[in-house]
This record gives sequence, structure tokens and C-alpha cells, in this order.
Amino acid sequence: MYNSKIIGLGKYVPENIVTNNDLSKMMETSDEWIQERTGIKERRWIVPGSDDTTATMGVKAAKVAIERAGIDKDDIDFIIFATLSPDMYFPGPGVQVQHALDIKTVGALDVRNQCSGFVYALSVADNFIKTGMYKNVLVIGSELHSHGLDKTTRGRGVTVIFGDGAGAAVVSREEDSSKGILSTHLHSQGEHAEELVLIAPGMGKRWVNDIIEDNDPDDESYYPYMNGQFVFKNAVVRFSEVIMEGLMQNKLDKDDIDMLIPHQANLRIAQFIQRKFGLSDDQVYNNIMRYGNTTAASIPIALTEAWEEGKVKDGDTIVLAAFGSGFTWGSAIIKW
Ligand code: UT7
Repeated sequence: MYNSKIIGLGKYVPENIVTNNDLSKMMETSDEWIQERTGIKERRWIVPGSDDTTATMGVKAAKVAIERAGIDKDDIDFIIFATLSPDMYFPGPGVQVQHALDIKTVGALDVRNQCSGFVYALSVADNFIKTGMYKNVLVIGSELHSHGLDKTTRGRGVTVIFGDGAGAAVVSREEDSSKGILSTHLHSQGEHAEELVLIAPGMGKRWVNDIIEDNDPDDESYYPYMNGQFVFKNAVVRFSEVIMEGLMQNKLDKDDIDMLIPHQANLRIAQFIQRKFGLSDDQVYNNIMRYGNTTAASIPIALTEAWEEGKVKDGDTIVLAAFGSGFTWGSAIIKW
């Protein structure tokens, strides 16, 4: 039985910055409203027609992570790609990464767990490594939201929140069982699936031909829907529960947390959790101000930046936690 350890991290965000004031030119919103409710100041949206896609951004982040891991691309045994915004309906972007990085014919798995996607993907990587099946697993979270958002006042409750970007981690075998990913914890509650949802195109309710045939200008089924307040209320409860679950399993206390990296859903959610666990500003890493909510990419982008800034160090106890559409939620407890 081995442990697994993150040995390389990388991120990529598109250059194009969209400020809250830029959004207020597209829809009825304001910098004040967005900052007050979410903490977001700006986000990155790809320039339409650029080469950036969910897969290519993931590849760029992965290249940095592999280089920092100090391994060769051919040492990667398995690829896991988490996203809610794949380039194509099928196949998922995992195979695009295998091809773009010219990695030999290793397995590629796509994870569909939205904001919890990276934590779910990390858990899969961890357990494949713990059983000895693989030695080096490439885990990517990448999202291109901007192409699929309703950029009119109708969509403002959702559109102002989301941003584009990618993060990646190389997870590798660790012989010392006191180091690396100590445990991961995953949950779901499907009764709330439609509280944060993108209905179409889907084989269940509305496929593309239904949308074309109806030609209904009021059709919102192909834009994301979020019951914001309901999601918020569930998020604060589930974040707290799943962090506690992870701490208790490892006989740790909240005082043992060196750095909490929450999924960047809303700064107010992160601040609520910070207060609840009695953590200082130095013990919680947030970058939603600059990137918005990048769903499956948010934790690996934040973890990469925290590591780059020297805020994630050898021996630190790092807690990752996420909540989102599904509902799904999860945490990872890591001894760095
Ligand atoms: O990452 C996945 C998990 N997602 C989350 O955790 C998100 C959780 N939820 C939230 O972060 C918050 O619910 C939001 C930021 C999405 C919304 O904040 P809120 O305080 O819950 O606002 P609300 O939806 O209740 O809307 C309040 C008012 C409404 O106007 P009325 O009905 O009071 O006149 C909205 O129409 O604010 C209006 N509104 C806006 N106004 C200006 C909604 N969006 C906007 C906007 N700009 N962008």
C-alpha cells in the first residue's frame, strides 16, 4: 500500500480580463453588486476565435505541472480530466490531452462533477496510486464558461460569476505513508440536481433538434440555471461537514490546518467557512477576486498560486474542499 503525493502543479488562464464594469456594458449589473455579493472584481474570458478551449487550456496547465514534477510525459500512466464544459459532447477532453501531449496510449478518464470535479478526480488518482495500479497520474480541471453564458440581463444572476481557466496536478506514488494525500471524502445529493443545472443539450429532455424546431427566443434551457440562495445555504453546511469529516478521520483539529483552499464559489462562502473554523486570513487562500468561479479549475488554479507564493510548504496540512452542482461535494486532507 502506497500513499499519493502532488509533485507538480500548473495553471493557465486566458489573457483577456473582463471587469465588472465591462459586464455592466452588456447587462444591467454593477461593480458594486458583484463585489458585494460575490467578492469578484474581474474574471478571464477567452477571446472568441482564439485557440483556447477547455482541452487546450488543460494541456497548457498540464505541461507546466509535468515540467515542475520533473518527470517525462511518458512517465504519465493515466489521465483524469474534470470539466463541465467539454469541447465536444463526446468524447471528453481526456483523450484530447493524451493526443496533444503525445503520451503513449494510457487510459484517459473524464469526470463530470462540476465544482467538485477536481476533488473527485484527485480522489480517483489517489486511490489508483494507493492500490499500486498507477505511479504517475495527471489530473486536470479546466473550464471554458464564457462561450455558453447568457450575456444579457436575463442571465446576470449566473453569468457574472463564472470565468475561464485551467489547473493541473501530477499525482505520484509516495512511499512514506505519513505524507501526501491522507484521505478524500466524496458526497452527493441528487434530489437537488436541478437547482444548479444546464438542461440542454441532453438526451433526457432537450436535444439540439428540439431547440432548433422550437426556435423559441425565450428558451433558457441551454443556459446554466442556478437557484443561488438555495445553493449558497447548502454550500456553507456541506463545506463545513466535509472539512470536519476529513479532519476527524485523520484525528486532526481545526488548529492543525495550515492552509484551506476552498473551491472558489463565492468569497462570502469562503469567509463564512473561515469564521466557522476560526482560521486567519493567512490560512485560507482565495483568488475568486481575479478569476471568478472556474468550477473544476478553481481548486487547482488556487493551489498552484498558493504553492507559487510559498504558502503551501513541506509538512503543511492542506485542506481542499468543494461543493457544487449535483449536488456534489468533497474534501481532501493533504500532508504536503
Ligand atoms: O460554484 C457552485 C456553487 N455556487 C455557489 O455556491 C453560488 C451560491 N450563490 C451565490 O453565490 C449567490 O446566491 C449569488 C451571488 C448567485 C446571488 O446573490 P444573492 O444575494 O443570492 O442574490 P439573489 O439571486 O437573491 O438576487 C437578489 C437581487 C434580485 O433582484 P430583486 O428580485 O431583489 O429585485 C436579482 O434580480 O439581485 C438581482 N440580481 C442582480 N443585480 C445586479 C441578480 N443578479 C444580479 C446582477 N447584478 N448580476
